[in-house]
Amino acid sequence: MEKRTFRTVIIASALLTGLTAPALAANKVDKEQYPYAPSLIQWEKSAAEFTDPETCGECHPQQYEEWQGSMHSMAFQDPVYQGELNLAIKAVGHDIAKQCEGCHTPAAVVTGQIKGAGLEGLGPVAMAGVSCDVCHSIKGHTHWQTPSHQPENGSFILSPGREEEGEAILTKYGPFTPDEWCGDGFHECVESPLHLQAELCASCHQVTHYESNTAIESTYTEWKNSPYAVKEIACQDCHMVELDTFIRSADTFQKPERGDYRHYFNGANFLLYHLTGLAAKKAGDDELAANVQQKFDMAVGRLQAAAELEISPVYRNGDLAEIKVRVHNRRAGHNLPTSLTNIRQMWLEITATDSQGRVVMSSGKIDSKGELPTETRLFNADGMGESLHFAIDPWEVISFSRNDTIPPKGYRDVHYGLSSDEELTVNIKLRFRQATQKVAEKLLSHVPDDMHLDAIYGITEVPAVPIVDMIDKTIVIKPKG
Ligand code: HEC
Ligand code: HEC
Ligand code: HEC
Ligand code: HEC
Ligand code: HEC
Repeated sequence: MEKRTFRTVIIASALLTGLTAPALAANKVDKEQYPYAPSLIQWEKSAAEFTDPETCGECHPQQYEEWQGSMHSMAFQDPVYQGELNLAIKAVGHDIAKQCEGCHTPAAVVTGQIKGAGLEGLGPVAMAGVSCDVCHSIKGHTHWQTPSHQPENGSFILSPGREEEGEAILTKYGPFTPDEWCGDGFHECVESPLHLQAELCASCHQVTHYESNTAIESTYTEWKNSPYAVKEIACQDCHMVELDTFIRSADTFQKPERGDYRHYFNGANFLLYHLTGLAAKKAGDDELAANVQQKFDMAVGRLQAAAELEISPVYRNGDLAEIKVRVHNRRAGHNLPTSLTNIRQMWLEITATDSQGRVVMSSGKIDSKGELPTETRLFNADGMGESLHFAIDPWEVISFSRNDTIPPKGYRDVHYGLSSDEELTVNIKLRFRQATQKVAEKLLSHVPDDMHLDAIYGITEVPAVPIVDMIDKTIVIKPKG
């Protein structure tokens, strides 16, 4: 009720000033078609239950090891996610949790296991987040029937199996034409062309606002409108392969070989691998610690292969006037950065020094509190709420007031005014971190009561958010040209 009153005020003030965003119509979703709305999952319920990943791993140990410690395995237990989920429920009520969990732990939403934020009392299927049996029970999707007529908010159909004469038969959807031994009597196999396409990933990697339905994370549509989609280089071809194979997919548009696919789902989130590594060490699990260290290195490697910098001095009337920095998105199959573009930070740090080592120009240097100066050139987006205010939370963001992300195979130019009488040494870094120090502190300080960061990760305060240098280049520039 309170919310409605607030809206009326907004509409009234919009009429008066014409300065606020128009109030958006509520997202009209057919509750019969989508019983878990605002998540658009459908579930074919039968006696066949979801299986935990450890059980799948008994016969598929390689896939298990690759998936273990991946962002998909962490999607529900991720403390950054749990902190934000907790804040979402406090801000707009429990109903929104279904939307979040529909992507972060879908099987637990349809089976009704999740009652609130937190981990207490949950079984292995819920804890496993985006587990084996989520992806391999995806039978199809309803992408064209959604409010946006595109994939969004979990618009897939889960069908872990079927019933025959009262007996449960598990069915797993996969990439191959199965032989008669497929599944070893544990499950039957169905060949699924969807598993070779970006549309398998799309429904979770395209997030729209739970009420207004505006797009707030658009990795799928960024990809769909890129040369990669035209050349049929799908998400799997970069994220389910080793680093060198991904580089080849991006550079040559050549599909990986059948045997090249791995269950890494490795992207940019080195921070979470770092935290998972701390937890593994704390629990004395050296094997898991080594496993996530490898995934950490791989995420850093992906980031370092994503972009390229071209640096050129600009002279006017023979004198140095500015430095032009061109940032190319060479190998990300979507915008760089993508997804949580209003939270991720990718920026240029530039330092010009003269022959005495004096700094004559500097921009983008982090201060002692971990914050960036306001003039820093960032390649991300600013989210915006209904009254045009700056917003970062997914229940508030309905549009963007700025979007400086770089499209696939595209670039952005940045100009820095700079003049000098002598030769200058210019160092330029392209840097990346998951969030600002303040945002990290906010989310991690709101984890649910049953998650103790000290007990799990051995951290008593939020450490400085680590930064990865995607590129680090130094050039010497002449004062006259
Ligand atoms: C349509 C699927 C979908 C929905 C709905 C969704 N998310 Fe996510 N969420 C994702 C994906 C995919 C990522 C990873 C994006 C990335 O790594 O940039 C993510 C990442 C996050 C992260 C960042 C985690 C980290 O470690 O950096 C947070 C926090 C988060 N989601 C919170 C939420 C909350 C709270 C909700 C509900 C209001 C929600 N999400 C709804 C798919 C979804
Ligand atoms: C995010 C979705 C997703 C998750 C989670 C997932 N898989 Fe897969 N899986 C796929 C896709 C996509 C393919 C097809 C890859 C290809 O093109 O060969 C695949 C292929 C397979 C195959 C066929 C052989 C191969 O490796 O290509 C097996 C077996 C398999 N997965 C088992 C598992 C097991 C076991 C788990 C959990 C430990 C798991 N999967 C988790 C999406 C997923
Ligand atoms: C008792 C052993 C056993 C268990 C347990 C098992 N599988 Fe399989 N599965 C097999 C065998 C054997 C094959 C065929 C050979 C192969 O691809 O590894 C297979 C094949 C697959 C394929 C490829 C199917 C295709 O046609 O592309 C997928 C996907 C798969 N399993 C997923 C799973 C998932 C998910 C689980 C857990 C819910 C699971 N399996 C549990 C034995 C098992
Ligand atoms: C059921 C929903 C779901 C499906 C299907 C899904 N994902 Fe994800 N994915 C997520 C969520 C949720 C996260 C983020 C977890 C977090 O940050 O806590 C994620 C994270 C990732 C990441 C890591 C991002 C990072 O910041 O490092 C990659 C890469 C990824 N997914 C690729 C894929 C690919 C490729 C597919 C299809 C083969 C796929 N996903 C299918 C929900 C899904
Ligand atoms: C040509 C290779 C390529 C393709 C195709 C591709 N990606 Fe990526 N992806 C990357 C690279 C490189 C990064 C790391 C740089 C970045 O964050 O954009 C990345 C990062 C990500 C992230 C992490 C974003 C973050 O900041 O946490 C997610 C999530 C993701 N990709 C999902 C997808 C999905 C879903 C698809 C398919 C719709 C896809 N990717 C297609 C190369 C690719």
